[in-house]
Amino acid sequence: MALRDRWNNRFAFVMAAVGSAVGLGNVWRFPFVCYDSGGGAFLIPFFVALFTAGIPLMILEYALGQRMQGSAPHALFKVSQIRKAERRAKDPKKSSPNWEWVGWWALLVGSTISFYYAVIMSWAFNYLYHSLKVSWAGNESGFFYQTFLRLSEGPGVLGGVSLPIVIGLAITWILIYFIISKGVGRVGKVVMITVPLPVLLMVILVIRGVTLPGAIEGLSYYLTPDFSKLLDPKVWLAAYSQVFFSLSLGFGILIAYASYMPKDSEITNNAFLTSLADAGISFLGGFAVFSTLGYLTQATGSPITEVAKGGPGLAFVIYPTVISKLPWLQGFFGVVFFLMLLTLGIDSAFSIVEGVCTGIQDKWGLHRHKSKVAFVFCLVGFIIGLLFCTKGGLYWLDIADHWVNNFGLAVVGLFECIIIGYFFNIGAFRKEINSVSEIQLGKWWEITIKYFTPLVLVIFLIWNIVTEIRTAYEGYPLWALILGGWAVSIGAIVGGIILMKIRTKHREEFNV
Ligand code: PFF
Repeated sequence: MALRDRWNNRFAFVMAAVGSAVGLGNVWRFPFVCYDSGGGAFLIPFFVALFTAGIPLMILEYALGQRMQGSAPHALFKVSQIRKAERRAKDPKKSSPNWEWVGWWALLVGSTISFYYAVIMSWAFNYLYHSLKVSWAGNESGFFYQTFLRLSEGPGVLGGVSLPIVIGLAITWILIYFIISKGVGRVGKVVMITVPLPVLLMVILVIRGVTLPGAIEGLSYYLTPDFSKLLDPKVWLAAYSQVFFSLSLGFGILIAYASYMPKDSEITNNAFLTSLADAGISFLGGFAVFSTLGYLTQATGSPITEVAKGGPGLAFVIYPTVISKLPWLQGFFGVVFFLMLLTLGIDSAFSIVEGVCTGIQDKWGLHRHKSKVAFVFCLVGFIIGLLFCTKGGLYWLDIADHWVNNFGLAVVGLFECIIIGYFFNIGAFRKEINSVSEIQLGKWWEITIKYFTPLVLVIFLIWNIVTEIRTAYEGYPLWALILGGWAVSIGAIVGGIILMKIRTKHREEFNV
């Protein structure tokens, strides 16, 4: 059997994990959740969520990947096998379920993210080019929705694909293929650039932002604490959801990354380092965004409530508006901003692809054929991504994104907690983690994984399901929500079970 691929060192692994965590969400999600949910006061629920769910779950994912030396499906398969053997030893008639399908499900839902994340990268590539001429000047929103996306009237009208977006998508997938096809050695080198570079660019934008008139007002919208918001349960749910999304939990990415570390490597301190770096960069992202929004409200007279919008609207409409209103070097700041988005996003995008490819390699013993597996996945990703390059693409992207963040992630996280908390010897697992780690985990970790995190996730899910049933998301037609949301989730469960049922020769070696 071929030896498992390895990171060059611990630093490369941590940087890659930070690269996955730090993405578009740090710029276009965190600052707005913060602004909406009590400004500076939001840091309280955010850090509570980080310490009571984000970090414990990250430790769990790192430990699973590392101790089981496998991606999500493989690690959960091994966990199930170990449990089965333990039960059989006591009573030969006893059995225990195989949880491998949960791992596949995570990877299938994660793949959906990679399909649309790559399209957003393509937009950023196009805008990088347009920055040189500040093509959007004068009519930023018209440029994005009409000239660039040629947006149709609804998800039912797809229209043709847009060639520049397809070209950008092809470039993105070729880059992803190039980075991951040679194993984690190359990934480890690439992240030495794609992690610090966007932070440096962000610092340039912060400096530009805070030296603009109106910046202080903008920052006060971002940070002025409104402690009364802490009584609103929605604010707490927002904090947990932001922490999960931002740390890239629940899609098997961190499990796959950790599986390329030797079995006896440090775990807990790595998780603290990754999470705190991610939190710090989110906080900094808010400074870049809100200082410039303050400038915009001053320059245009529009109230902050009108300009403070997250998501693609921020990156492709609001920020370009600010850029065309800058007194000098507009093109330069356009390039800085879109290069920042690209370098922020690319390592999140390839981390998902790495997670899926590792899953396939582990199941079929294809580690020596890494580049072929990567090639096929990237090609499939490109073809599926064409849907999002059509005139109706933005609607589908929005539906897929909403679904994944509101349901996919929480369900996988919940399963992970239940499997390790109730179908595995979590006490022994904690001891194993402690035996290799710099920071010792107390009993609190077990309690969190068994009771607290699942409870939060169940509340989160029930809340989201009720909201979903009460109001159609963004007023989309029901058929589109069913097709883009429910059908994809159910399809991923069926797909996960089918993949679990496939028996491979390689796998037999592990049967207990
Ligand atoms: N963590 C990334 C961000 O905050 O932008 C986004 C992300 C990447 C989420 C990969 C989920 C994922 F699987």
